Amino acid sequence: MPTMMVAGNWKMNASTTATAELLEGLNAGVASLPKNTQMVVFPPLPYLAQAQQMLQNSSIVLGAQNVSEQAKGAFTGEVSASMLQDFGVRYVLVGHSERRSLYAESDALVAAKFQAVQAADMVPVLCIGETLGQREQDETLAVVNAQVQAVIDAAGVDALACAVVAYEPVWAIGTGLTASPEQAQAVHAAIRAHVASQNSAVAEGLQILYGGSVSGATAEELFAQADIDGGLVGGASLSAQSFLAIGQAAK
Ligand code: PGA
Repeated sequence: MPTMMVAGNWKMNASTTATAELLEGLNAGVASLPKNTQMVVFPPLPYLAQAQQMLQNSSIVLGAQNVSEQAKGAFTGEVSASMLQDFGVRYVLVGHSERRSLYAESDALVAAKFQAVQAADMVPVLCIGETLGQREQDETLAVVNAQVQAVIDAAGVDALACAVVAYEPVWAIGTGLTASPEQAQAVHAAIRAHVASQNSAVAEGLQILYGGSVSGATAEELFAQADIDGGLVGGASLSAQSFLAIGQAAK
């Protein structure tokens, strides 16, 4: 199983033309990535069918940015985990800071979504991270550990054996500010230690991605850190050239 992951969160950016162009570029370049590296793309929901079709013979894996915590029924506008699974999705983001802050998703809702994803045999990518104010108050580790613990309390620590965690400091998302490799490594190590205190084997196998303005210029040093197992990339995942450059750094 690949040990590094480069995950591209397109957010609300796509069109059929842009999706075709981006995935053609990624398909053409993915073979040149280090063998230990898995590339995952997270297009907006309406483009999943197009992406599934274009990734049929590709090593690139399909992800989705959001999911309902409900299984089915009268929930107008929502999309269930089994629907995502039906379109070949393998990874689903839960708890992205934009969902937490702009759509008021609570720890409890994030945990319910996490469980819905696993119930449909897909892998949740649990996003966590502190705001600038929390970092300045020295609350970073308390905040991220509480966000992880909310899922452990709901789903059990063993559930993290089939999940990915993405540490994304809110102040680094889309701002051009990146946590230094040392800052990121310190938080990743603390998250792993927090999980290890409850199950050391799960902690050891847990993939912890870093996110927040990752670019070709910053990726190599970040990915060289002992507890950083890849990146969740927003802006720089919208161009095949820049996303592939980040993938190249994931040795
Ligand atoms: P960014 O986004 O790379 O544009 O900062 C990362 C994310 O929000 O996942």
